[in-house]
Amino acid sequence: MKNNHKIKKVVAVVGATGAVGVEILKILERRRFPMAKLILLASERSEGKTITFKKKKIKVRRLTEDSFKGVDIALFSAGSSVSERYAPIAVKSGAVVVDNTSAFRMDPSVPLVVPEINPEDLKWHRGIIANPNCSTIQMVLVLKPIHERFKIKRVIVSTYQSVSGAGQSAINALLNESMLKLSGTKVKKHVMHHPIAFNVIPQIDLFLSDGYTKEELKMMNETKKILHDDSFKLTATCVRVPVLRGHSEAVNIETEKQFTISEIKKELSKMKNLVIEDSPEERLYPMPIHAEGRFDTFVGRIRKDSTVPHGLNCWIVSDNLLKGAAFNAVQIAELL
Ligand code: A2P
Repeated sequence: MKNNHKIKKVVAVVGATGAVGVEILKILERRRFPMAKLILLASERSEGKTITFKKKKIKVRRLTEDSFKGVDIALFSAGSSVSERYAPIAVKSGAVVVDNTSAFRMDPSVPLVVPEINPEDLKWHRGIIANPNCSTIQMVLVLKPIHERFKIKRVIVSTYQSVSGAGQSAINALLNESMLKLSGTKVKKHVMHHPIAFNVIPQIDLFLSDGYTKEELKMMNETKKILHDDSFKLTATCVRVPVLRGHSEAVNIETEKQFTISEIKKELSKMKNLVIEDSPEERLYPMPIHAEGRFDTFVGRIRKDSTVPHGLNCWIVSDNLLKGAAFNAVQIAELL
């Protein structure tokens, strides 16, 4: 009994009412995370709301500087500015922070962890552990085994990212805009700056002076950090598509060493939580509607690119709210 109490943690979820926060709570419940207490934190807008967890109603509290007293693990999903301000306060109060935002990902003193790939980086944390960007997580699950065996020279990735990656307001925007459009009503205000229903938007996050977006830069830099390879060459185009949940990626890979498709599939099949779904004759390939609600990442359309000596194309899909965010964060918390 005494030992059992020791491993049970006081857990705080910051952004508990948001798209990722809600998924974190479901996973904590489903995986019976050993908890002594659960504290739900959000903005003042949600103060006093209740959320049911393990059949009990828990009140949402407003996030303040005093919110972290006695907290062991704090899972942050309330945007970068909230993490920048409150994560150091949580650490000072004695909590370990698993941060879902981009606030600390490129900080050299903060490990950036995908548990299937670099769990050893957890050892050197100083209170904050960063969860990578959703698009990066699902892609590195495929890149890592290929890189290890065949040494990747260059990657070109184009993403098809669902609106849930931009939070609950973007989910609502896609649903509302779709209904208005179908009923013939003109949409006056666009949450995503442009219509997202029946459209695609080639911008995720802000533009940088070199013409890339921050989201694209995140994919390039985070991949290097997770794979511990500064020379890794990757170029990305990130696109928002009118899909509610699940990010897709078309990935072109050039390797140094020669490979066969069956060798590639053999390496991929060894990766934990990665499923090969590749049977074109049966029209079987990964799709967001099939990945929704699943912890696994799916890879298919695996084929040679014969325009370069050792080229490969594939298609990767994952539930961005789960492996891309909440599940990866809870996996990290479990390892802690
Ligand atoms: P709230 O629901 O009270 O606004 P999403 O990613 O779906 O947009 O969700 C963002 C989450 O972050 C929500 O839980 C939201 O709470 C929370 N949040 C946003 N701003 C703050 C803030 N300043 N302080 C605490 N929580 C915040």
